[in-house]
Amino acid sequence: MVRIGIIGARGFAGGELLRLGLSHPDFRITYVTSESQAGALVSDGFPGLRGVTDLRFQAFDGDEANAAADAFFFALPDGEAMQKAGALLAAGKKVVDLSGDFRVRDPENYQRWYGREHVSPDLLAQATYGMPELDRSRFAAATLVGNPGCYPTATLLAVAPLFADRLAEPGTLVVDAKSGVSGAGGRAGMDPAFSFPAIADNFRAYGVTGHRHIAEMEQELARLSGTSAPLTFTPHLLPVNRGILATCYVRLAASHTAADLTARYREYYREAPFVQVLESALPELRFVNGSNMCHIAIRVDDRTRRAICLSAIDNLVKGAAGSAIQNMNLLCGLPETAGLLHGATGP
Ligand SMILES: NC(=O)c1ccc[n+]([C@@H]2O[C@H](COP(=O)([O-])OP(=O)(O)OC[C@H]3O[C@@H](n4cnc5c(N)ncnc54)[C@H](OP(=O)(O)O)[C@@H]3O)[C@@H](O)[C@H]2O)c1
Repeated sequence: MVRIGIIGARGFAGGELLRLGLSHPDFRITYVTSESQAGALVSDGFPGLRGVTDLRFQAFDGDEANAAADAFFFALPDGEAMQKAGALLAAGKKVVDLSGDFRVRDPENYQRWYGREHVSPDLLAQATYGMPELDRSRFAAATLVGNPGCYPTATLLAVAPLFADRLAEPGTLVVDAKSGVSGAGGRAGMDPAFSFPAIADNFRAYGVTGHRHIAEMEQELARLSGTSAPLTFTPHLLPVNRGILATCYVRLAASHTAADLTARYREYYREAPFVQVLESALPELRFVNGSNMCHIAIRVDDRTRRAICLSAIDNLVKGAAGSAIQNMNLLCGLPETAGLLHGATGP
């Protein structure tokens, strides 16, 4: 059993870490923090966990955390884990951080996209980008994982085989992605722009040209293809609670059929238990929500020689807590799928 701590357990991602982690066969959750709910029962914060756990939230304390658990998930806003994780790592603990603190390898690039200085560049240099589907070898000696963002997860999985095999024309990728509202976190609920009338019966873009997830997408595509990989990314807010559908358009360097590309994707993901490459069906949120699966389909527009790569994930599972557990499984030498082979909840 691995003793697990969740730092920032009261947020949306923390709640999913609890929901999935409490039934994980090799995890025992021993330490959960919330500053605002310290002392309260977890099941009071998450009534959906009534009858499942009698854990209580506590305020974060480095010494208590160290004594209570062997491995930690950080589910705090950007800028927090880079200040708190160092002491735990120095004590030999394993850390998976769900924020953006350990995803962008270059501290200057981090400052450019996140608008703050990275205070632990030494830790950043040790961090592993947590997408085993792209490169499992990165996990061999890892102790600190920067868990990917939700949009980058949907996007990178949708286009990685094209970039790894250099089938895509560099600089032509356009990503049109739509997310459910939980992607903005629980705190966003206080903002009138996220009130029911502003979300329901509405559909809007945001972050046009400037979303910080662009940094890690370009970084990982450049690493895969060995060449600079600028992209255009526009996120949209769907009037649903959860799920991301990404539609990615990229010009192919040469003509390929959809059947050929689908076969290549299946080969590329042959050891990826959470990627399902569809053939005739197209991805839908209802068939991934609640699960750690990413559904992908590839089509080719022959007239323009563009591939259209579609993917669907649950932003809170494969886009956050599920992939974090997948990464922690690898850090702890457990089967990658442990605690994660749930089907989706959709009808
Ligand atoms: N939502 C998603 O779909 C998603 C997907 C991928 C990654 N992530 C990342 O996961 C992390 C958590 O996201 P979330 O959606 O769970 O956010 P959230 O619902 O807003 O929760 C964040 C929690 O962090 C705690 N916290 C501690 N220090 C804080 C501070 N200085 N300012 C604000 N909150 C603070 C707060 O809880 P207490 O007051 O109880 O301590 C809060 O409940 C973020 O870095 C986010 O980018 C989220």
